[in-house]
Amino acid sequence: MANTGKVTVVGAGFYGSTTAQRLAEYDIFETVVLTDILEGKPEGIALDINQSRPIEGFETTVVGVGGGSYEGTEGSDVVVITAGLPRKPGMSRMDLLETNAKIVRGVTESIARTSPDAVLVVVSNPLDEMTALAQLASGFPKQRVLGQAGMLDSARFVNNIAEVLQVPVRSVSCLTLGSHGETMVPVPSRCTVDGAPLTDRLSVEQIDELVTRTRNGGAEVVALLKTGSAYYAPSAAAARMVRNIAEDTGAELPVCAWVDGEYGISGVYLGVVASVGAGGVKQVVEVPLTDSELAGLREAAEAVRAKQADIANL
Ligand code: 2OP
Repeated sequence: MANTGKVTVVGAGFYGSTTAQRLAEYDIFETVVLTDILEGKPEGIALDINQSRPIEGFETTVVGVGGGSYEGTEGSDVVVITAGLPRKPGMSRMDLLETNAKIVRGVTESIARTSPDAVLVVVSNPLDEMTALAQLASGFPKQRVLGQAGMLDSARFVNNIAEVLQVPVRSVSCLTLGSHGETMVPVPSRCTVDGAPLTDRLSVEQIDELVTRTRNGGAEVVALLKTGSAYYAPSAAAARMVRNIAEDTGAELPVCAWVDGEYGISGVYLGVVASVGAGGVKQVVEVPLTDSELAGLREAAEAVRAKQADIANL
C-alpha cells in the first residue's frame, strides 16, 4: 500500500528530529516535514534521514524547512509542536512557562493558518499549560489538540519497575495520570506484573520509591545530560501518538486531553486516559482509581487550572 498523509514536526532540536526520524521509519506517511527557526538545520537533518532510507528500507520523504518558514507544511494531517527551550539542570518545567509560551503561541498561530484541519500534538514544556495555550492560539476544537506526557511517564514507570524486578518490560503494565510535572500521578493500583498486582511483588516503600523516581524521570535525565532534556523516550511516545491518530486506531492511551466532567473535573487540560484516533481525542476514559489516586488527580487538575488561567495573558 502506498504511503499517505503528511505530518509536520515543528522544531528540529533533538526531540523534533528524533520524532521525525521515528515517523519516517514507520514508513506509513508520504511526507514528514521538519521545520525550525534555524536555516539549514532542518534541511540537513531531513537530507540525513532521507539518506538512511536505502539502508533502513523506508520510502517516506522527510522535507526540511528552515528560517521559520511554514512553506510545505500546508494541509498537514497531524502537527507535532516541539518548539521551545528544554530544561537545564536544576530547572523545573514551569521555569520555561513565559519563554515557551511566546514561542508556542507564535508557532501555533502559523500552523493554524497553514493546516487548519490538523490534529495538534503538543510536547513543549510545561506540557499541560502549553497544550492549553496551543488550543487557545489555534482556536481548534479542544478534541483536536492534545499533549504528550502520559505515555512517556507511564513508560518510565514501567522501565523503573522492570529494572527493579529484573523482568522484561513487556510483562509490566502501568499507568501515570495528572500533570507532566510536580503533580504527576503515577497510579500503582493500575500497575501489574505478569497480570498480578504490583503489591504482590513490591513493598509499599519500594512502590513509593518507584513513584518518586517516575515523577522525577525527566529531571534525572536532564541532570545526567547537563545540556538539554530527554528525547529518545519522549519522541517514541510522541511518534506513537501520531501513528494512532493517523491510523485512527481508537487506542486508549495516557495523554494530556481536555477534561470535561470526567472524575468530577471540568474545564482543564490534564493527563488522563483517552481513546485517540482521527480527529484527535475521541473520548476521555475514566479508569477506576483509589481514593488517594483520585485526590492526586484532582489536585493536579487544580494546579494546572491555576497556571492555565495565567497563560491566556502570556
Ligand atoms: C521529559 O520529561 C522532555 O518533558 C520531557 O523528559
